[in-house]
Amino acid sequence: MKNERLIKSSQRVKDHGEVFTPHRVVTLMLDQPEIKRALNSLTATFLEPAAGEGAFLTEILSRKLVLASQLSDSIEAFEQKALIALTSLYGIELLVDNTELLVMHMYRVFYQEYLRQISKYHASENKKVVKSALTILKANLVQGDALTGKNKNGDDIVFSEWTLLPVKRGVQKVQRTEYTLEAIRTDGPSLDGQPQVHGSEELTLFDLEEDPEKITPHKFEPVPLLEIFREKHVPE
Ligand SMILES: C[S@@+](CC[C@H](N)C(=O)[O-])C[C@H]1O[C@@H](n2cnc3c(N)ncnc32)[C@H](O)[C@@H]1O
Repeated sequence: MKNERLIKSSQRVKDHGEVFTPHRVVTLMLDQPEIKRALNSLTATFLEPAAGEGAFLTEILSRKLVLASQLSDSIEAFEQKALIALTSLYGIELLVDNTELLVMHMYRVFYQEYLRQISKYHASENKKVVKSALTILKANLVQGDALTGKNKNGDDIVFSEWTLLPVKRGVQKVQRTEYTLEAIRTDGPSLDGQPQVHGSEELTLFDLEEDPEKITPHKFEPVPLLEIFREKHVPE
């Protein structure tokens, strides 16, 4: 890709190992058969643990949105499937400025594809979709240190699991549950290394044992996908 900027300054490389992956390498890695298989599922989860500006996550989202489009025959169907795809993508980034760019870049990929679909179906933008997309992005793309599990305030990194509930009377509801990264790391699969992929039938990010000592899940009310932005908590 032309004008690709792989480093911002030598100081940032020295301090944080901040070197971005060239787009051609990202596509090459995502074209590996095992990853390609996972990209055929809207719900297969991906975690980029040192996400930078989202070199991998943005490309994964683009590909999942192509799938969402192929599986849809109306704008409403695309909206639902695109939000489901978004809930499956997670990132952790140490630096505050990079985290903001990460969220922006993911939002841009989502919104540009949404606009294309709106044009394709001669539909109009549904603000609930945009607001719910932003809620998911802010919950799933977090500032923090992937090694310590803490954010810049010293608080635990928290991730949200988005469980799709059985469709009732044509309505797809989702339930959001928050877990600390520490809880996931202790009881779930390893979170280190390169972007991870788990098929929906394999391990998930949130494959936790029910140990109340370690896990303090924080549940939200089950809501239709387009109501995610309301962030309704289950009363304690
Ligand atoms: C080598 S870059 C990779 C960025 C992106 N994954 C890519 O491939 O372009 C490393 C990024 O990880 C971040 N980083 C370094 N240490 C980290 C840590 N302990 N936890 C989370 N992010 C970290 C840096 O701020 C930088 O943005």
